[in-house]
Amino acid sequence: MDHSRAPLLEALADYHRLGRYGFTPPGHRQGRGTDARVLEVIGRDAFGSDVLANAGLDDRLSRHGYLARAEALMADAVRAETAFFSTCGSSLSVKAAMMAVAGGHDGGLLVPRDSHKSIVAGLIFSGVQPHWITPRWDAEQHFSHPPSPQQVRNAWEEHPDAAGALIVTPSPYGTCADIAAIADLCHERGKPLIVDEAWGAHLPFHEDLPTWAMDAGADVCVVSVHKMGAGFEQGSVFHLQGDLVDPIRLSECADLLMTTSPNVLIYAAMDGWRRQMVEHGHELLGEALRVAEHARRQLEEIPGIAVLDDELLGVEASHDLDRLQVLMDLAGTGASGYQAADWLRQHRRLDMGLADHRRLLATLSLGDDKGTIDTLVDGIRAWREQLTEPTPARIALPSPADLQLESAMLPRDAFFGPVETVPADNAVGRIAAEQLTPYPPGVPVVVPGEVIDRAVVDYLRTGLDAGMNVPDAADARLRTIRVVARA
Ligand SMILES: Cc1ncc(COP(=O)(O)O)c(C=O)c1O
Repeated sequence: MDHSRAPLLEALADYHRLGRYGFTPPGHRQGRGTDARVLEVIGRDAFGSDVLANAGLDDRLSRHGYLARAEALMADAVRAETAFFSTCGSSLSVKAAMMAVAGGHDGGLLVPRDSHKSIVAGLIFSGVQPHWITPRWDAEQHFSHPPSPQQVRNAWEEHPDAAGALIVTPSPYGTCADIAAIADLCHERGKPLIVDEAWGAHLPFHEDLPTWAMDAGADVCVVSVHKMGAGFEQGSVFHLQGDLVDPIRLSECADLLMTTSPNVLIYAAMDGWRRQMVEHGHELLGEALRVAEHARRQLEEIPGIAVLDDELLGVEASHDLDRLQVLMDLAGTGASGYQAADWLRQHRRLDMGLADHRRLLATLSLGDDKGTIDTLVDGIRAWREQLTEPTPARIALPSPADLQLESAMLPRDAFFGPVETVPADNAVGRIAAEQLTPYPPGVPVVVPGEVIDRAVVDYLRTGLDAGMNVPDAADARLRTIRVVARA
């Protein structure tokens, strides 16, 4: 295929060149109707390219097939058979993939318990029964690793009738599962593997990055182009191969969830990113990996900071690691990741990928260079130097066993059934009716349908006092929790 072409971008250039005008949405009319103060901040160009997808960029019957051609080029670029663009993030794509595989199927779906909240949302929408795959817990570091092939095998042995399996890899920390071995286990049973590869859009384009799900034999994978690629926020693609997932079912599930007004800016940026990756991705990502290595070495020299690398890998840990995710353990400084992140934002105007009770993550991309890394290293060094006697609020960290809550109801039934709001202390022993998710990384500590225990209430409440963010709780301070009403 001719990867020098970018059909959606070319169509947008034509739209401008031909001076098209639509008596259609968007009502701002390419910026004509936009308040000058808005244009001053956002810029006229953003509005100028915000045009209707059909009966705008393409004609009313999509006769030029710009989107279909861009999707075919994307599939070809990443060695998938089919690709679909979505403008609602992997949050939508993963739900569509789950519904296409397990919707209307009685056997449920194998799902890791440390999945992103969008997967739990997919369970709530679809009514699919999750069969949780236990993550690998490092109790000392208080960290979970993606499931091992053996854990997936165990889950299949317990639930042989499940419709398929879903895994999340890379995790938001860059740690990866052995996708090929897990795909083999699924395929031995004739069942599909879905990979939530939201953090892996760049993986197809460099051999020193972890294995790309399509190369490892997954059936469907979803990526967020806005995370590790260079698309606008919300740009996502699903990739599909093999004959275990019906492409029509998948695209129809996506259609059920999708907006009818997709943002052409998001589409066109994904199209242009694919062309950039095919033409220059290897070189750009090779350079990004060198920059990451440089960052790792510099950060490692700051007293008390350990840049995690080999410690994350092993039989009882992760299979591989994306080294563009620079994860720092701050335990040696005595401070929490929340404190470091807040200081960096306030004093250095730097935002970090993720912070928790002892870690800080810098997510690097092909947009970084030695200059941005110097800013990062200087900022973290300055934070370290001004740190005198850090007194992070104590967090009551639960044991892996305490985090393993009993599932008492389907997530959908618990969420949509009658609920009560009770003081957090009284929620112990009750069935949760809402997700409670520290964000980022967005892995729910409590899923609707699970029996809440004392340890997780103490963890979340002490976590909030220490700087944790639990934005999906109805009461974000967790003075109260929504639980399933007693009959
Ligand atoms: C593992 C994982 N899956 C899915 C998502 C959702 O992706 P998006 O933000 O593109 O909707 C995220 C977001 O952080 C994620 O970390």
